[in-house]
Amino acid sequence: MPEDMNINAVRDSFTESLAGASTLQELDEIRVKFTGKKGTLTQLLRSLGKLPPEKRKEIGQSLNTLRDEIENELDLAGRRIRDSENEKQEISERIDVTLPQKGRISGAFHPVLQTMHELADIMQGLGYSVASGPEVEEDYYNFECLNVPPWHPARDMQDTFYFPDGKLLRTHTSPVQIRSMLQYGAPLRIVCPGKVYRRDNDTTHSPMFTQMEGLLVDKNVSFSMMKGTMSEMLNAFFGKSLRYRFRASYFPFTEPSMELDMECVECSGHDAHCRVCHGTGWLEVAGMGMVHPNVIRAGKIDPDEYNGFAFGIGLDRMAMLKYGIGDLRLFFDGNISYFMSGFGGAEKC
Ligand code: PHE
Repeated sequence: MPEDMNINAVRDSFTESLAGASTLQELDEIRVKFTGKKGTLTQLLRSLGKLPPEKRKEIGQSLNTLRDEIENELDLAGRRIRDSENEKQEISERIDVTLPQKGRISGAFHPVLQTMHELADIMQGLGYSVASGPEVEEDYYNFECLNVPPWHPARDMQDTFYFPDGKLLRTHTSPVQIRSMLQYGAPLRIVCPGKVYRRDNDTTHSPMFTQMEGLLVDKNVSFSMMKGTMSEMLNAFFGKSLRYRFRASYFPFTEPSMELDMECVECSGHDAHCRVCHGTGWLEVAGMGMVHPNVIRAGKIDPDEYNGFAFGIGLDRMAMLKYGIGDLRLFFDGNISYFMSGFGGAEKC
C-alpha cells in the first residue's frame, strides 16, 4: 500500500531529523516540515479525500496517530533541550561559596599614630591626661620659659624653623609643659604626643618627627617615681620586662637630667653585630629629668611647694622598634602597600 509506505517513510524521515536536532530552532523547523501548513503530514491528510472511502478511515487513523506521535516527540525533545540549556546556564552562573574571599582592604592607622595611641593609653592607665599645644609656637614657650634664654647655646641643639614674625615651628613637645601648668595648675599629670620640627634631614632624621612629652607635678616627687614610670610605660608598650639604664645628661629645663637607654629589643645585648643597637646592647629612647624650678615658676606654680619630673620620648623610633620598620623615610612615603602587608619584607633598623 503506497499510503502505508508513505506513512512509514514519513516516520523514518521524522525520526532521522529529530536525531540530528539539538536546538529549539531546529525543532521548530522540523515541526514546520512535518506538521506545518505545507508539511508532509498535512499534505497527506489533505489527500485523504482522494482515497477510496474504505481506505480513508484506516489511513486517516494512522496519519492522526503519526501526527500525535510527532507532536509528542517534538514536545519531549523541546523539553530535553530546554532542560539542558537551563542546566548549562545554571552551571555557568553557579557561585562557589567555598572559594576564599578576595579580601577587603580596610583602613589602618599609620604606625606612628598607632604608637601615639598605645603610649597615650598606657599613660592614661597611670592617671595621665592627654594634652595638646600648637605646632606654630612662640619663642617664649618653646625656649624662654623652659629656661633657654636667647643667648643660650642649647638653642643650637635644636635648629629651629622660624617664621618672619618671630614665631617658630616647635622643636619639641616641651612647650606643652608650661601651657598645661598655666592652664591646669598643680598637681598635674599630662602626656602630649605630637609633631615637632627641626632643621634636620638625612636617612635617620626628618625635618618633622614626633615626640611624646610627659609631665608630672606634685608634692615630693622623687627621681625613683620617674624611673618607675618610664620602665612601666615601656614594658607595657613592648609587652615584656626590659632592662633600663639612666645616663646623666643635660637639658636646660630639667635638673638633674637623664637620658634613658633601653635594653635592645632585637638582641637583648647578645649580638655583637645587631643592626638595631650596633652591638652596644642599648637603645637611646628618651630625655628626662626633674623639672627645673625656673620652669615650675614659669608655669605659675610655687617650686618650694611642688616639684616634678618630665620626659620626652621619640615616637618614630618607638614605632620602628616595635613594628620592625627599618627605614624612617617609609613613614612619610605615599606607598601604603608596605604597611598594608603588615610591614613585611623590610630590614630592621
Ligand atoms: N625636649 C627634650 C628634647 O626634645 C626632651 C626632654 C623632655 C628632656 C622633657 C627632658 C624633659 O630633646
